[in-house]
Amino acid sequence: MRWVVTGGAGFIGSHFVRTAVTEGWADHIVVLDALTYAGNLENLEPIGYKDGWEFIRGDICNPADVEAAIGSDTDAIFHFAAESHVDRSILSAADFVRTNVLGTQVLLDVARQRGVKRFVHISTDEVYGSLALDDSARFTETTPLNPTSPYAASKASADHLVLAACRTHGLDAVITRCSNNYGPYQFPEKFIPLFITNALDGTPLPLYGDGRNVRDWVHVDDHIRGVYRAWKHGRSGAVYNFGGDCERANRDIAARIVELLHVDPALIQRVADRPAHDIRYATDASLAKKELGWIPGPIIDERLPELISWYRDHRDWWQNIKAGAYRDYYERMYGRRGS
Ligand code: NAD
Ligand code: TYD
Repeated sequence: MRWVVTGGAGFIGSHFVRTAVTEGWADHIVVLDALTYAGNLENLEPIGYKDGWEFIRGDICNPADVEAAIGSDTDAIFHFAAESHVDRSILSAADFVRTNVLGTQVLLDVARQRGVKRFVHISTDEVYGSLALDDSARFTETTPLNPTSPYAASKASADHLVLAACRTHGLDAVITRCSNNYGPYQFPEKFIPLFITNALDGTPLPLYGDGRNVRDWVHVDDHIRGVYRAWKHGRSGAVYNFGGDCERANRDIAARIVELLHVDPALIQRVADRPAHDIRYATDASLAKKELGWIPGPIIDERLPELISWYRDHRDWWQNIKAGAYRDYYERMYGRRGS
């Protein structure tokens, strides 16, 4: 079994690759990643450079790079590569359209030319838009796509292209849409690692708006095991939602981080809200549970202590990031949102 994993040096893709290599899910894995600001080969260091996987630095928008990674013997493509941060897409959307839309189409074209047996497209529940706070409704796979941010719109576009390749050209493809992930090696611009690492540094935790926005938290390990099951058991042309049955308001997560780290709650500082900030995500994963046999593990409340320990024990990893590529962006964001 030979696989190509795009975005395998990022947060979720690297968790997938580390687990797949460790547990022997495939004979050979090619990681194709451009190493943008979010890609980091340190995320793959725990598995070492051994037989079973190789790394190719390449851009999914460049057909030559994609052709170098995908062979006629490639059994499956797991497509994680993306520009993934909503706030960055609000500052500038061009890279999101390029990578998430054009890059996905380049992969689909090469997958078809090379006769790849299955294309697993990693999408997000953000394509559905926002739910109301005072409602019990959740996103299902038939909820109409109604994305809010440029990030979500670019992911929805990619989903349509994948389904179009499936319907028009008979490509075997499966789409997964997971809610918010947390876990080790998450780039510290995202909410949870940003708040944990700022708290460890004793710097302010910038809470957008009133902090009542709700996210449905899924551990990255549950997500990637769902992706694996979608490859193994999913129906071609099907979409599978993954959600944690774990809706939490941002302000409650922030309070819990402060409590677990024994830092001053005054570090949580309200800043200007994100434009068109989706108020609530909640994802119904019944179909994945029924058809894929997917079951999420313990909820975030039980896993936050171990996650905090991980960031405490991997200070070099996130401090290098914060001192490097990330610093300019953070100063720009925090400057814009600060009082
Ligand atoms: P990430 O930003 O941590 O990693 C993205 C990776 O893609 C990086 O390694 C980067 O170098 C690579 N990449 C970016 N542009 C590329 C290009 N043009 N060519 C090749 N590689 C490129 O993202 P993540 O949080 O790991 O998300 C992975 C996937 O999961 C994305 O498709 C995202 O939409 C989806 N997703 C994320 C979440 C979440 O909570 N983070 C939830 C649901 C779905
Ligand atoms: P984020 O991690 O950017 O994921 P997404 O926007 O894709 O859900 O943000 C999660 C939530 O945390 C979202 O409601 C925005 C909020 N948030 C803050 O309050 N402060 C921050 O500094 C960040 C990055 C996010």
